[in-house]
Amino acid sequence: MVLQIIKKTAFLTGLLLLIGLNSCYYDSVEDLYPQPPVCDTTGVTYSGSVKPIIDANCFACHSGSAPSGNISLANYNDVVVAAQNGSLLGVIRHENAWSPMPKNGNKIDDCSITKIEIWVDSGTPNN
Ligand code: HEC
Repeated sequence: MVLQIIKKTAFLTGLLLLIGLNSCYYDSVEDLYPQPPVCDTTGVTYSGSVKPIIDANCFACHSGSAPSGNISLANYNDVVVAAQNGSLLGVIRHENAWSPMPKNGNKIDDCSITKIEIWVDSGTPNN
């Protein structure tokens, strides 16, 4: 009899513990399978999209009186030159024919590359 009560109590305690633990364990799809952030490619412009990326990743070397590789990316006209001769997309996509940029740095993120591609494909507007 006593043994039975002990057994029952142990069983119930175990059950409650299980339920308790289960209720604390919550999982969301986002936590279990992290999704890459959504890339918003609507309304890509030079001033709002391309320039900030170039300024953050390229400007330090490619501006001033002696820009690296003698290539300036300091303003719209400079960036258009690189866009039109293919070097801009070539270097950021790390294509074989070009020196990969940013020099000695990580490739810029895919979303930024996509935005620059969209801008080049739409004819490098000064917007
Ligand atoms: C740390 C300095 C540095 C940064 C940052 C940098 N560059 Fe360069 N870049 C260079 C140097 C130095 C060269 C000359 C070629 C070489 O040494 O590879 C060059 C060359 C280039 C060229 C000519 C490449 C060729 O193969 O003819 C382009 C176009 C260019 N950079 C664009 C960019 C762009 C776009 C970014 C930003 C995404 C960038 N660079 C970031 C230093 C830099």
